[in-house]
Amino acid sequence: MKNPLIQIEKWWSLAIGASPLNLKSAVCLSTIDETGFPNSRFVDLKDVDLEGVIFCSSYDSKKGGEIKNNPRVGITAWWDHVGYQIRIVGNAVKVSEGEAIRYWEARSRSAQVATLSFNQSQILDNFEFLEEKFLMTESEYKTNHIPKPVNWGAYKIVPNSIEFLQFKENRIHHRELYQIENGKWSSCLLQP
Ligand SMILES: Cc1cc2nc3c(=O)[nH]c(=O)nc-3n(C[C@H](O)[C@H](O)[C@H](O)COP(=O)(O)O)c2cc1C
Repeated sequence: MKNPLIQIEKWWSLAIGASPLNLKSAVCLSTIDETGFPNSRFVDLKDVDLEGVIFCSSYDSKKGGEIKNNPRVGITAWWDHVGYQIRIVGNAVKVSEGEAIRYWEARSRSAQVATLSFNQSQILDNFEFLEEKFLMTESEYKTNHIPKPVNWGAYKIVPNSIEFLQFKENRIHHRELYQIENGKWSSCLLQP
C-alpha cells in the first residue's frame, strides 16, 4: 500500500499551481484545549515528506501550549478550484533545531522582525504598540542577521489517518480514508 503522504504532496502541488489565492498554502489546524474543546485556526503548510506535514509557529502561542498538553491535532484543507478536501489526524512533534533554523532563514525579514517583536496569543493592551515594537526591533537589528528565537520553530504532524475527498457537483463525492497501524497503511472508501 502506498504512503498517502505522497498523494498529499501531489494534491498540494496541483492546488498551489492553479490557485487564485494570495496565501495558497493556508490549512486549518485544530488543537484541543485543556477543557477538551477544539480550537481551529489557519497556518501555512511548509512541507510534506514521507513522515508528515510541517507548519511553523511560536512554541509559546496558545496552539503551542495546547500541543504541549495534547499533541493530537487535525489539519483540514479545502482547495475549491480543484475540488479537493484533505483531512489529517495525527500527533504534532517538534522538528529538530537545525530544521527549524532552515525554515526561519527562509522567512522574509519583516516576518522575522514581527516574530521577534510579538508574544503570539498574549493579551494586547494597545494596538499602536505593535508598530512601535516592530520599528524598535527593526532598528535594533538594522542590517544584521536576525537569529531564530528559541521559542519559534516547526511542528511535523505525523498522521494516524488521512482522508482525501474529491468534490462532485452531483454530491457523489469520492472519499478515500487511509489509516496506519503498526507502520502499515490500509485504505477504504467512505460513503459521501
Ligand atoms: C492565511 C493565514 C496563515 C497563517 N499562517 C500562520 C502560520 O503559519 N503560523 C502561525 O503561527 N500563525 C499563522 N497564522 C495566524 C494564526 O491563524 C493564528 O492567529 C495564530 O497562530 C495564533 O493562534 P493561537 O493563538 O491559537 O496560537 C495565519 C493566519 C492566516 C489567516
